[in-house]
Amino acid sequence: MDFSFITRYQGLYLTGTRNTIFLAVLAVLFGVMLGLILALMRRSSLKPVKFLAAAYIEFVRGTPLLVQLFIIFYGLPVVTGMRFPDFVAGVIALSLNSAAYVAEIIRAGLQSIDRGQMEAARSLGMPHNTAMRHIIIPQAFKNILPALGNEFIVVIKESAIVSVIGIYDIMRSANIVRGITYRPFEPLIVAAFIYFILTFTLSNLLGVAERRMRAGDSH
Ligand code: ARG
Repeated sequence: MDFSFITRYQGLYLTGTRNTIFLAVLAVLFGVMLGLILALMRRSSLKPVKFLAAAYIEFVRGTPLLVQLFIIFYGLPVVTGMRFPDFVAGVIALSLNSAAYVAEIIRAGLQSIDRGQMEAARSLGMPHNTAMRHIIIPQAFKNILPALGNEFIVVIKESAIVSVIGIYDIMRSANIVRGITYRPFEPLIVAAFIYFILTFTLSNLLGVAERRMRAGDSH
């Protein structure tokens, strides 16, 4: 194995890494916003609203990200009559995908709070919304936040798929280096290493945040 190409092509990897981070941050940001809306829609008492959110979540979770990416990348120009930069298509696809998973994370977080909490609050005379805001959501937050951090890690890894539509991410930079150097193998190890550094760092940071958040808990 020969890794001497690294010094020469580190600039390519650096650009790829920057783009991967940028892509993942945007996707998670939009994903959380949209996921929150979906989660609220799913709790709506209006049947059609509820159905729409549920259908969206099921569809997104039940189809491959690669297919969704292609549908958006090739479909956007057809539907809107405009050509979008591939980066935009990538952000849209990843965000729309992530939103469905975020909605489920929020739902699971709220469900994890014992019913007795709501019952106790209501029996003390708290209106449902007040109990939600001051009793349920603060507790659910402790379960939701770490799971959202996890989603961030997943999105970083899954974002490698956007390299197939030409987005210059870590994976694509590795492929470019493979082409230039005629070395099919080693550039991939470098890419894996960079992804690992990113996710490992993030999961450690999340671990610290999680421990801080639980510091006040007795259970
Ligand atoms: N590999 C999965 C697929 O092809 C993507 C899962 C995305 N997961 C997520 N939590 N955003 O469908």
